[in-house]
Amino acid sequence: MVVNRVLDLVGKTPLLRLQLSNCKWDVFCKLEKFNPGGSMKDRMALNMINEAEKNGKLRPGGTIIESSSGNTAIGLAIASAIKGYKFIAVVDHHASPEKIKMIKAYGGQIVVVGDGYPANEVAVIEREQTARAISETMENAFYPNQADNYANRAAYIDTLATELIEELGNIDEIFGAIGTGGSLCGTAMGLKKQGRNTLVTAVEPEGSIIFGGDGKPYFQSGTGNPIGASIPQIIDYSLIDYNLYSTDAEAFNTCRFFAKNYGLLIGGSAGGVLYKAIESLIKKKGKGIAAIILCDGGERYLDTVFNDEWMNKNHLMDDCISRNLRDWLRGMNNGLISMGKRSI
Ligand SMILES: Cc1ncc(COP(=O)(O)O)c(C=O)c1O
Repeated sequence: MVVNRVLDLVGKTPLLRLQLSNCKWDVFCKLEKFNPGGSMKDRMALNMINEAEKNGKLRPGGTIIESSSGNTAIGLAIASAIKGYKFIAVVDHHASPEKIKMIKAYGGQIVVVGDGYPANEVAVIEREQTARAISETMENAFYPNQADNYANRAAYIDTLATELIEELGNIDEIFGAIGTGGSLCGTAMGLKKQGRNTLVTAVEPEGSIIFGGDGKPYFQSGTGNPIGASIPQIIDYSLIDYNLYSTDAEAFNTCRFFAKNYGLLIGGSAGGVLYKAIESLIKKKGKGIAAIILCDGGERYLDTVFNDEWMNKNHLMDDCISRNLRDWLRGMNNGLISMGKRSI
């Protein structure tokens, strides 16, 4: 493939087939880490900028300021670099050092808020307030506000959903993380728009309050909605059929299992989605096609999810998770995962 701009590489990410033991379902992981910025958020970052340019909220030479746990900011930093905007990311300690270094590498500036928060709490409210406040003090500034920006959700309707349909045809079930709700609700809208009757399952960290509950701190970064934060406007609950909770231990031990056994390095929230998806698909009777959206790669969580010391310190190591995965994935193709029809 030859492209003229890095932005033309956003989307069209590959699928990895997953074979479950004693289960006739065809299961595919959509590997969003293969976007240029390493996550699915490249799609919405580009669309939010394109829409703001169209409706005059962003003019040439302007500055984009956004609150982010890192992935949206990386997408915005890339698009800003290419389109000639300045970019300021407002982050808290949930943005890993790897993500912050990437934002800076693309020319973005960093503002850190939420000093004094424990490691498993997120300063979403401070982040959003600060990003809005900075944007109000600047000329030609644009605060995308991803949680309430419909261009976030719209970014996936004709991209991720269409790719899944082109690659898989009919899709019976999809599983995805939910934070702002943009990726899962947008994909669900796209599937419905194209006449698919796909069942949609949202996976949030245990402790996130999107589907109610008292809430409690969690380590999974970029996903869910913590206690006290308002529910993003772009979440449309009518598009979601089921919701599941993944613990940090389930999420992170799944990441470690897939890296060590199958050479697949995925991020923490993707690990949670993958574990809960496999756990529910393994019980299914009959046949069907399922797609699991894996938001980002593990390269940006090397100091946490993939660090033994950090995992032990936070009491997150759990051998039960890998034992379960080994059982659920046992037996097919030796390598258990195959690309297309060919075993690897
Ligand atoms: C790692 C990760 N997982 C999950 C999500 C949630 O995605 P969405 O905001 O589309 O619901 C995000 C969003 O930033 C993310 O960065």
